[in-house]
Amino acid sequence: MTETSPIASGRVAIGDAAAYRRVLGHVPTSVAVVTATGRSGRPVGMTVGSFTSVSLDPPLIAFFVDQASSTWPHLYAADHFGVSILGHAQSELCRAFSRRSQDRFEGVDWHMSDLGVPLLSDAIVTLECTRAKIDLIGDHYQVVGRVEAMELRAPNPPLIFLQGGFVDMADRNAS
Ligand SMILES: Cc1cc2nc3c(=O)[nH]c(=O)nc-3n(C[C@H](O)[C@H](O)[C@H](O)COP(=O)(O)O)c2cc1C
Repeated sequence: MTETSPIASGRVAIGDAAAYRRVLGHVPTSVAVVTATGRSGRPVGMTVGSFTSVSLDPPLIAFFVDQASSTWPHLYAADHFGVSILGHAQSELCRAFSRRSQDRFEGVDWHMSDLGVPLLSDAIVTLECTRAKIDLIGDHYQVVGRVEAMELRAPNPPLIFLQGGFVDMADRNAS
């Protein structure tokens, strides 16, 4: 992914979508692939940088989906959805699951969970969720899910997205 140069410091006008993206691109995010079994029975999935944990008891997580997303109707129709958190060397999966009009699962190692959720086998963490709450906020749906099952699959550092590119986390040890 091409890195964008940081914005020169100073106030930025509200209403310029590109500037808004670039300013908020200074906030690092994790990269997750949200998946479900689509209405045709095939797996569907999309990359999100908006994944966050919400509540411990009950165990709730959330992410935000553009209301124009073509994956959203499939996620909405599914009983369960999965979240696969990508590791530091998985930027190619991030790209694959954000491209339009292609089979995003082609060549990807994935498996079907007991709850009928497709999960990326090489993710560092996978979660299986039921939908707890959906709200349209601005132009995105806020999707809150209840975690029904989870697995720590690999002890690798996460993939981090920042300023239009990926942060090299290869040498980071958890402390
Ligand atoms: C690093 C990264 C983070 C993204 N985060 C989100 C997100 O949080 N919400 C969202 O709706 N789209 C996000 N996208 C865009 C989607 O992955 C996808 O490109 C877009 O939704 C178009 O595909 P769709 O029609 O299947 O939704 C992100 C893309 C990238 C590369």
